[in-house]
Amino acid sequence: MEIIITKDYEELSETGAKIIIGTVKKNPYAVLGLATGTTPLGLYKRLIDDCKNNKTSYKHIRAVNLDEYKGLPKEHKQSYAYFMRKNLFDHIDIDLENTHIENGVAADEQSECERYDKILESMRQDIQLLGLGSNGHIAFNEPYTSFESTTHVVDLAESTIKDNARLFNDIEEVPKQAYTMGLKSIMGAKKILILASGANKAEAVYKLVRGEVTEAVPASILQNHADCTLIIDKEAAKLL
Ligand code: GLP
Repeated sequence: MEIIITKDYEELSETGAKIIIGTVKKNPYAVLGLATGTTPLGLYKRLIDDCKNNKTSYKHIRAVNLDEYKGLPKEHKQSYAYFMRKNLFDHIDIDLENTHIENGVAADEQSECERYDKILESMRQDIQLLGLGSNGHIAFNEPYTSFESTTHVVDLAESTIKDNARLFNDIEEVPKQAYTMGLKSIMGAKKILILASGANKAEAVYKLVRGEVTEAVPASILQNHADCTLIIDKEAAKLL
C-alpha cells in the first residue's frame, strides 16, 4: 500500500484530485467508483474547478457509486444519489445516464442487489475512491462483513448511525439500513484510492495499515490489494 501523508485536508484533497484527473485524462472512457461522505468533498470541488478551468471532460466517463440509504428516494436531500448530483455531477459534463447507484426504494431487495451486481460486473472500476468509517468500515460494509460479499443490504452499526447523524436534523431520521457495494466488488477495482482526514479516523487508519487482515476491520482487506493508495492528513496519521 502506498501511503501519502499530507499537511492538511486541503493538500489531501489536491493530491487525491490529481490522481482522479490523471485517470480521466488517460482514459476518457474510464469507470470511476465514487464515494459519498464529507471526506471526498474537497476532492470533488477540485474536479469541478478543473473541469471548468482546464476543460477535463467527463462526457464519456461512467460512474458507479458505493452505497445508498434504504428507504430514501433519489430526490431525497439526504440520499446519496442527491449528494452526488449536488456535489459533483451537476457541475461537470458527465451524462447522468452513465452514473449508477443502488435504488434505495426498489420494491425488491434481492433483485435490486442482483441488478447492481450486473452493472458492476459489466463495469470494472479503473479507480475506486473510498472514505473510511471510524469503525473501519468502507462503503457501508460494517465490521464482520464477509470479504466475499457483493451488493447487499446492511443493518447500520450504532456508531455509523451516530457518525452520520450530524448530516440529518435528528438522529431518528438516519435510516437504519443501507444498500452497499460488497467488499469483493470493491477489491475488483484496478486501483483503489482511500482518503481519511482528522483525529477521529486515526485508530481506523492504524488498523487499516498495521492491523491484522480481518473481517472485524473491513478496511484491512485493502492490505491485500495490489494497487492501493491511502492519502491521510497528519491528524489521521497520528497513530502510525
Ligand atoms: C459513510 C459512507 C462511507 C464513508 C463514511 C465516512 O458511512 N457510507 O462511504 O466513507 O461514511 O464518512 P466521512 O467521510 O463523512 O467521514
